[in-house]
Amino acid sequence: MRSSKWFILVAALALMLGVFALASAQDAQPSGDLEIFSWWTGGGEEAGLNALIEKFKEMYPDVNVINSAVAGGSGVNARAVLQTRMLGGDPPGTFQVHAGAELNTLWVAADKMEPLNDLYEQNGWMEQYPQGLLDLISDDEGNIYSVPVNIHRSNVLWYIPANLEEWGVTVPATWDEFINETCPKLQEAGVTPLAVGETWTQVHLWENVALGVLGPEKYNGLWDGTTDWAGEDMTQVWETFGKVLDCANEDMNALTWQDASRMVIEGKAAFNVMGDWAAGYFLVDNSLEPETGFGWAPAPGTEGVFNMLSDTFGLPKDAPNRDAVVAWLSFLGSAEAQDIFNPLKGSLPANTEAQIDDSELYNAYFQNAYEDWTSNTIVGSLAHGAVAPQEFSSPFNDVIAGFQESRDVATAQATAAELAATTMTAGSE
Ligand code: GAL
Repeated sequence: MRSSKWFILVAALALMLGVFALASAQDAQPSGDLEIFSWWTGGGEEAGLNALIEKFKEMYPDVNVINSAVAGGSGVNARAVLQTRMLGGDPPGTFQVHAGAELNTLWVAADKMEPLNDLYEQNGWMEQYPQGLLDLISDDEGNIYSVPVNIHRSNVLWYIPANLEEWGVTVPATWDEFINETCPKLQEAGVTPLAVGETWTQVHLWENVALGVLGPEKYNGLWDGTTDWAGEDMTQVWETFGKVLDCANEDMNALTWQDASRMVIEGKAAFNVMGDWAAGYFLVDNSLEPETGFGWAPAPGTEGVFNMLSDTFGLPKDAPNRDAVVAWLSFLGSAEAQDIFNPLKGSLPANTEAQIDDSELYNAYFQNAYEDWTSNTIVGSLAHGAVAPQEFSSPFNDVIAGFQESRDVATAQATAAELAATTMTAGSE
């Protein structure tokens, strides 16, 4: 009798202790340093990231966030720093990486990332993210390797409506119209027809000239081997690209993407082709209103096509302070975080539960982009890591830099064709 009483008492005590231990494990808040690596150092991009960090700090006051952003549009510098750190066994807690080839051929193929399927299941994200986007960040076995924070559009032509009116030009529907009508008219008026920046922005322009000349099917064929890089269509792409560059500012190599956007804002140039982080720049840095203050259209010849890219964050293997990284990623993928970030960034939320219908939060630019995202033909960006491995895209930058100097169509086409043949074997994406 006595011993059974004891037994019950001990068992009850053990149960209480167990419950207590479980509760405190669940309540355990991450603490310590969390390093977030990106290339968002200015304007709407930085504002968006800072707003996320602020909210995260409210949620996890014991975590010390270290924002180690490396300046340089499209990650030109950040990627080099990241590569050195990853290969040197010094990964940041989490880092920005484009959905698609950049994530898959660089980091997943090298076995440097942890799959995040559990996180997706726990947060109900399998139903909240578009399947096409999940495919871009998954391997063939269905392992998902990063958390998308947005959808950006590459093929946007930006302008200031009042300036176009003053100069008597309209938005060109095709590159031919731009080259033959819009460009000479603006040049006669002493206005630079197209503002262009440093090399990566020239690659960005090239992909949208290629898309406009080839159309979405042949453009996609560049990445799956069905379009001949040495063929006549591609000669036309390079010729058109050369003529488009002839309509741009000569000091392009010295300008950042923001400098090029500013040329448009200041009325020095009529148009600029840039991703919709430029919307963040117009809205946040320059307090311009959509439609009245700044205007946009699909890049010439790309009506009905949405050239997409997505910024995502992953969990490197051996990341310092894994618990804090997991907390950050869980927050980042939530609709709440995406509604904080994207209205400042100029991008669309990737999580479909976000409040895109709220036109106070997402103004006319976003409404229009969302309509296109959900109805257009979707293709992927070369300049922003969606469609081609770095073995191609990195030397392709040099091809563009060489062409910008020489305008030598035959050499550029042959070099790019050779590069495509050696780096983009089927299944490399
Ligand atoms: C892209 C990136 C965007 C924006 C842009 C300019 O590669 O996806 O989020 O940062 O570069 O820096």
